[in-house]
Amino acid sequence: MPKGEIVAGFIAPHPPHLVYGENPPQNEPRSQGGWEQLRWAYERVRASIDRLKPDVLLVHSPHWNTQLGHHFLGVPHLSGKSVDPIFPNLFRYTYDLTVDVELAELACRYARELGLVSKMMTNPRFRVDYGTITSLHLARPQWDIPVVGLSANNSPYYLTTEEGFEEMDRLGKATRRAIVESGRRAVLLCSATMSHHHFREEPELPEDMAQEHPYSMEMYQWDMRLIRMMREGRMREVHELLPEFVDIAFAEFKAGSFTWMFSTMDYPELPGELHGFGNVIGTGNAVFEWDLTKHGLATPADQWHGRGAAPAAAPRPEPALAGGASPSWGSAPAYGGGSSGLFSGEGPSIGARPLNR
Ligand SMILES: [Fe+2]
Repeated sequence: MPKGEIVAGFIAPHPPHLVYGENPPQNEPRSQGGWEQLRWAYERVRASIDRLKPDVLLVHSPHWNTQLGHHFLGVPHLSGKSVDPIFPNLFRYTYDLTVDVELAELACRYARELGLVSKMMTNPRFRVDYGTITSLHLARPQWDIPVVGLSANNSPYYLTTEEGFEEMDRLGKATRRAIVESGRRAVLLCSATMSHHHFREEPELPEDMAQEHPYSMEMYQWDMRLIRMMREGRMREVHELLPEFVDIAFAEFKAGSFTWMFSTMDYPELPGELHGFGNVIGTGNAVFEWDLTKHGLATPADQWHGRGAAPAAAPRPEPALAGGASPSWGSAPAYGGGSSGLFSGEGPSIGARPLNR
């Protein structure tokens, strides 16, 4: 069975305003448009996903907030109406999605083996959060690719930001191992905004773009600082700066989606492609792509030889993970593509202490 690959990762922020501005048939409220720069950025994401031809989209959402442990969508088919509790006037979206339960179970199993409290979500009436739905709609409105949904555990809030990120690092390593073993061709979505201070009052017309601007000069400059580093491929510096950025800018990256995505990709020290930036009710939103096929780290779609067979129902842990052995933050990959040379990035230095606390 061919090994699976992570072919790309996207920062895919989830302001419901972007779905509202697009007026898709699934969303009840109607708008006159708005936030076009970000919506045009997502048009480029959609074109990239068309080109990449993934088997599965994995999304880590800050708005599926689990108090205890890391949860994975575990029902093959989920449908219903997702409502943003803060902006119910903008987002009441009827969804219908297919879950790659097999891959989710593998990732859940491996997360547990890395010492994380992990659980499959098996409630067939579960209402999927608006962060997951918004990022998925904006990236792939056809809903024709199975998804894996991961919750955001509250560890960065109960513990320190750095300790929370260590958990997300482990969650990424588990996700990566599951993808490689599953034979899937996977795209990752980090469903998160950058600077996250926002206006306290909504304009009378939400899509009145004359009212839209950065929350403050300071927040704008922080967003631009991080974006410049990402465009230049200085990812190690980005990860090192992340806790400070989170503290000052109240960045939604605190919930761990960004760290999870980069850990899953094995921390490629590569420039990201910025598809666009825009403010939404003052928050800073960047749409970014790291296409690993362009850098020789994953197989282009036209050279991919098909999806691997389904993984065994109860795969045996590899020796590197057996017995509760813990990889160190930023160490060489303990499994998956490491031996094949597919992934060459090194981890950040934050949290560089034993994980087995
Ligand atoms: Fe959010």
